[in-house]
Amino acid sequence: MAQKKILVTGGQGFIGSNLIRRLMKNHPDWFIMNLDKLTYAGNPQNLKDIDKSPHYIFVEGDVGIKQDVDSLINIEGPDCVIHMAAESHVDRSICGYSDEFIRTNIVGTYNVLNACMSAGIKKIIYVSTDEVYGSQDSGEFVKEDANLNPSSIYSASKASGDLLAMAFYKTFKLPVVITRSSNNFGPYQYPEKFIPLMITNILEDKKVPIYGDGENVRDWLYVDDNCAAIEMLVDKGVPGEIYNIAANNELTNLEVVDIIRDVLDINEDVIEFVKDRPGHDFRYAMDTSKIKLLGWNPKYKANKLRQAFKETVNWYLDNEKWWREIRSGEYKKYYNKQYNTEAPSQRSMLTNEDNSKFMFKKKSFSDSKKIDETEEEKKVEEEISEEKPEDTDETEEISEEDTEKEETDEDEEDDDVEEEDEEDQEEDDEVEV
Ligand SMILES: NC(=O)c1ccc[n+]([C@@H]2O[C@H](COP(=O)([O-])OP(=O)(O)OC[C@H]3O[C@@H](n4cnc5c(N)ncnc54)[C@H](O)[C@@H]3O)[C@@H](O)[C@H]2O)c1
Repeated sequence: MAQKKILVTGGQGFIGSNLIRRLMKNHPDWFIMNLDKLTYAGNPQNLKDIDKSPHYIFVEGDVGIKQDVDSLINIEGPDCVIHMAAESHVDRSICGYSDEFIRTNIVGTYNVLNACMSAGIKKIIYVSTDEVYGSQDSGEFVKEDANLNPSSIYSASKASGDLLAMAFYKTFKLPVVITRSSNNFGPYQYPEKFIPLMITNILEDKKVPIYGDGENVRDWLYVDDNCAAIEMLVDKGVPGEIYNIAANNELTNLEVVDIIRDVLDINEDVIEFVKDRPGHDFRYAMDTSKIKLLGWNPKYKANKLRQAFKETVNWYLDNEKWWREIRSGEYKKYYNKQYNTEAPSQRSMLTNEDNSKFMFKKKSFSDSKKIDETEEEKKVEEEISEEKPEDTDETEEISEEDTEKEETDEDEEDDDVEEEDEEDQEEDDEVEV
């Protein structure tokens, strides 16, 4: 495959880090850029093994801030943008953090689409979810042209992104491809989500909280299968088309617990039923014949599904430090110490100083590719300095807001950590399925 420059947004999270690792392995001549805000879900550890590669750069930035997105996409002009930065935890979207879902998942998606349009990007993949279709009755499988019927703030914010993406395609012919995948599982998934929460609770001798009667159905997709589909769509995805991605691994939540218990050889006393999530969708199920026509097929299905669960459990067994630091709140302290900087939640925009760091990183990419873009860099620098008076006001305005917000965020996070430390009851109520 030809050399490509790919921008992944949200690459420091669960699916993003698995995707970047896969792209780097399969396409050593591609250059991968990763724009991520490093929220609580974005962990620098997730891509530590490739961090120093000359074919990779990490740019800390916020898709919710137009300037962060514009500067990167306009300067670098990637061949393809894979937009997956998002607030992704349904429970957080319905218990006090919904503003961030609107800001990142809707405004952030708009910013990315808009920047791609200005820069004339030739392929944009917007990573969405099966949750936009809402709950399905048993035996029903939705196709890509089904109506959107989201139930939570999370799925409504993702569906808004889908609608914006389609509007950019219809109105401006922006070459956007949308993926809607089912629930993923695998290595590096933040332990607030159902499967890693279950595994790590069991490993810490804690009960596994199950919403309602545990009969809700999800179609489980091993993360590498999803990444393989996205990788294929970089070349084969047809602009303006939507692709469902799932493996036909329908399981009730209780069935998932049974598999994990079996892999870990634990008895069923471990289950604790908790009050159901408000608006909890009963079942998601999609027809995936469209993406299969392009040549994608999930590897981890039917009798290989158990192997994927086993590999996931083994990953959590082998990477205890990774999840224990997250669960104990040590991750935040680690971050400050390791990177000798503020905690991620305290930064939410690129300042002018950050911009120059970014230019430096860009230079190192250009050097590695032996491309002389000095003139272009100069032009962009001039443009940035021309815009300065307006930007300065904006920056000050945002900075004040941010300062207030940082304090609130920090307080909230501290509270979170204290609460987690005190008892796990609260955390137990936050089960993503
Ligand atoms: N996990 C699933 O089962 C699943 C299923 C279907 C679709 N999806 C979609 O896939 C994408 C990735 O999901 P995930 O599970 O890896 O999520 P995640 O929560 O693990 O990671 C999200 C990443 O986005 C980053 N981010 C958040 N806000 C940002 C912002 N404003 N600017 C820049 N970066 C920001 C975070 O730092 C993090 O690295 C999301 O768009 C999600 O909606 C996930």
